[in-house]
Amino acid sequence: MTTIQKVAIFGASGNFGTPITAALMSAGFDVTIITRVQSAATFPSGVPVIRTAYTVDELTKALAGQDAAVCVVGPSGIEHQAVMIDAAEAAGVKRFVVDDFGWGPDVRGLPEFKSVHAHRRAGWDHAKARAEANPGFTYTGITSGNPIDWALRRFPLMGFNISQCSAIIYDSGTEQFTGTTLEGIGQAVVGVLQHPDETANRFVKVRSIQTCQNELLEAFQSATGSQWNVERSSTKALLASGRSKFQAGVGGWVLELAVAQLFDEGEARCVVASSRGDSDADLLGVAEETPQEIVTRVLKSK
Ligand SMILES: NC(=O)c1ccc[n+]([C@@H]2O[C@H](COP(=O)([O-])OP(=O)(O)OC[C@H]3O[C@@H](n4cnc5c(N)ncnc54)[C@H](OP(=O)(O)O)[C@@H]3O)[C@@H](O)[C@H]2O)c1
Repeated sequence: MTTIQKVAIFGASGNFGTPITAALMSAGFDVTIITRVQSAATFPSGVPVIRTAYTVDELTKALAGQDAAVCVVGPSGIEHQAVMIDAAEAAGVKRFVVDDFGWGPDVRGLPEFKSVHAHRRAGWDHAKARAEANPGFTYTGITSGNPIDWALRRFPLMGFNISQCSAIIYDSGTEQFTGTTLEGIGQAVVGVLQHPDETANRFVKVRSIQTCQNELLEAFQSATGSQWNVERSSTKALLASGRSKFQAGVGGWVLELAVAQLFDEGEARCVVASSRGDSDADLLGVAEETPQEIVTRVLKSK
């Protein structure tokens, strides 16, 4: 049986790296943060930080003695993933958690996201190839879908303007999607490293909830004790707007098309696992949450 105790993390101060690092620390792993020479990030006190160039030689030194490495760098850092994987293998790291935290290899995304997915897939394919060539090296990807509490707070375009108690409901508001909270994402990483044999060389699927806009609206209204102003819109309009920005090469298309994809009626594009039983949530200890629990947390932290 494989045991993992010493864990290095890339991207520890990011949107997802922060809760993942906190979860690893509270689960009792010995955490080391690896960061870029030019990084201005700050990190929790008491955690060893290695500031280094992202070359195979330097990262091999940085990763020496680690049992696992977790890659949770932002999209602009994904290009370094193959180098991180080669260094991890050279350093004798047993498990590399690749950078997914999104829609995974089975994504049925809009065509505009093709090059983004191809870029991400290159790192995953490299990890798979190295694991096939070297049985001592293994990988896991964590497909967590919509980061629901973070996204609801951060993106009113997802339909909920919390400070104004107003909502945009796309189409009928009934399109189902799955989401994982930041706490659930942290727990998923902990769960993978606590179950290395069951999670070796595959993508795990996690979810905290399966829901739709109408359920979330009801939960927001009930939690705030008020009727929200509701505007009706359509994913068709959002798709058209996002696509015209994409074609014109102007910003804003990623969010518009990501939201259109989330609520694309009848397509179930953003259901990572259609039941809890089809996911790895139980194995990894990711709790199922209700819309009420999630919106209450979102409202508290606004
Ligand atoms: N499913 C979704 O809707 C969704 C939403 C958001 C994110 N995600 C995914 O979650 C993962 C993490 O995203 P995030 O939002 O947490 O990332 P982030 O906050 O944007 O960045 C995390 C860290 O990445 C490192 N980084 C940034 N640029 C880099 C570069 N050019 N080279 C190397 N490292 C760099 C930095 O760490 P240092 O400064 O310490 O080096 C940074 O603190 C990504 O795979 C992202 O695509 C998914």
